[in-house]
Amino acid sequence: MSAPMQGIDRIAPSEGGMRTLAVVALKGGTGKTTVAVNLASRAHAAGLKVVLADMDPQGSSSDWSKSRGGAAPMTLPLKFGSLFPAQNTADNAGVDLMILDTRASSQMDTVAAVKAADLSLIVVRPTVIDLRAIAATVDLLRPLRRQAAFVINQAPCQRTGRDPVMVLEAIELLLRYGLAIAPVGLRGRQIYQTTFSRGTTPAEEDPASAAGAETQRLWDFAAEKLWPAGVRPRPAGRLPHPSFDPRGLAMAGVLSAVVPHGAQAHP
Ligand SMILES: Nc1ncnc2c1ncn2[C@@H]1O[C@H](COP(=O)(O)OP(=O)(O)O)[C@@H](O)[C@H]1O
Ligand SMILES: [Mg+2]
Repeated sequence: MSAPMQGIDRIAPSEGGMRTLAVVALKGGTGKTTVAVNLASRAHAAGLKVVLADMDPQGSSSDWSKSRGGAAPMTLPLKFGSLFPAQNTADNAGVDLMILDTRASSQMDTVAAVKAADLSLIVVRPTVIDLRAIAATVDLLRPLRRQAAFVINQAPCQRTGRDPVMVLEAIELLLRYGLAIAPVGLRGRQIYQTTFSRGTTPAEEDPASAAGAETQRLWDFAAEKLWPAGVRPRPAGRLPHPSFDPRGLAMAGVLSAVVPHGAQAHP
């Protein structure tokens, strides 16, 4: 595997070979590409050698890559049948992480991506339409028995320190599926759209911004799942913490499931 790269502060990517992260949802427009490019950018910033595989013929991830002039992370258009050979090639080439940005309309692609992945993130918006559609994605994934977590995207921002009822209700509903929920999601913010058109990400343009911080925390959560404790020691002061109302999550009993043992629910 790869020699240690500059910027790796805590991940030991050589242990256990390349990891694959799938970003999925059978419904279109939930934010798969937005989550995929932001995580790819954070992983790259952490010093990992990243390939963002664009499995959607619409090519949104590839467009983002073109807008950034092809700068890393590398983006690779990938046809369904090429996934496994591409994984082998990338692993042999010393890639640390392959992120699969999938298309909504294909059950076959989604199953293949989830089977190939160490972790699948199911992106869902806290809207009635998305939440009604999520059952189809869960039904497809559940028999595969792979590590998966929901990511709530485009949640409205908190008001007076509390999440809107629609977000709390979405959490309640998602909990019934018995899968983890990432303790941080992405809020609905225009900066995700404007940075996308520039081929950047909020964290690259302003790491201290709310969007920059939440994408960093989402990456921390994903990295923890991909390189569990022991492989990737957790640095002090970088504990993931929920951007959604922790009281809602704690009441619903999800925090213990998604916040690693010993982490503080209320940092
Ligand atoms: N958190 C967010 N805040 C604002 N806009 C978002 C957010 N996530 C996604 N979008 C916008 O919603 C649209 C669909 O997102 P996209 O990532 O392309 O979804 P998918 O890949 O699931 O089809 C895009 O216009 C995107 O910029
Ligand atoms: Mg997409």
